[in-house]
Amino acid sequence: GSCLESVKIAIDAGYRHIDGAFVYYNEHEVGQAIREKIAEGRIKREDIFYCGKLWNTCHPPELVRPTLEKTLKILQLDYVDLYIIELPMAFKPGDAIYPKDENGKIIYHETDLCATWEAMEACKDAGLAKSIGVSNFNRRQLEMILNKPGLKYKPVSNQVECHPYFTQPKLLEFCRQHDIVIVGYSPLGTSRDETWVNVSSPPLLKDPVLNAIGKKYNKTAAQVALRFSIQRGVVVIPKSFNPQRIRENFQIFDFSLTEKEMEEIKGLNKNVRYVELLM
Ligand code: A2P
Repeated sequence: GSCLESVKIAIDAGYRHIDGAFVYYNEHEVGQAIREKIAEGRIKREDIFYCGKLWNTCHPPELVRPTLEKTLKILQLDYVDLYIIELPMAFKPGDAIYPKDENGKIIYHETDLCATWEAMEACKDAGLAKSIGVSNFNRRQLEMILNKPGLKYKPVSNQVECHPYFTQPKLLEFCRQHDIVIVGYSPLGTSRDETWVNVSSPPLLKDPVLNAIGKKYNKTAAQVALRFSIQRGVVVIPKSFNPQRIRENFQIFDFSLTEKEMEEIKGLNKNVRYVELLM
């Protein structure tokens, strides 16, 4: 229920872009929150920008549309605004989200990302997704799609880790050149959950530079980190289940960082990921 409450609070606070996925196992709550807010007259469906994701076990082209349809059924919505390939590697199809062999090793699956992409294009043509994109793709993987013979739609976005400690200067430039929006996940430096986060990289929000700049504007380090990203054209998807912090993370449109401050924050880049995706 905390996801339902958080999404409702977020919509009331002004958020419209909601980043979800089947593998977060809370799409039913997200859908319910959106539908309740529509019923209240607070928003219309077209005000919301919902992003859903195609999981690794669903890359075979014939699975793409049924998987999106399953998400729509869970959400109880007619379409998603954006549907993205969550990761550029495929796992063995089946019920196990992380299919493993007897030695506990992930079972991968032969895949042709271009064929998966064509199935994504068909979802857009069918009106089930307004736009299509990718996530965790590097330059080489993006080029594979962009150079695909007969490409119908380019990926509109690439969702990757991006924040002051991992600024992605080269990928950002490449995506700019190709009109691909970078959506930055973990924009606050993650929850530091050791089961999936590389905690050897220090906590972003404790950074002295972010805190000092925040002090000047009467903002928190989190707000400065988010402002930094949006000011360089990176979409941010901060996560919080705390009402006060959900609202705090939206209060970033009433100040701006100077060029010097932007450069100073860019200088914090460590080129180290929190989310290593070792699988
Ligand atoms: P909480 O849910 O208790 O607010 P990211 O978006 O980089 O994945 O970061 C998410 C983590 O950051 C969560 O643990 C969240 O905890 C915490 N968080 C979210 N907003 C803030 C904020 N404004 N200040 C401090 N921590 C925050």
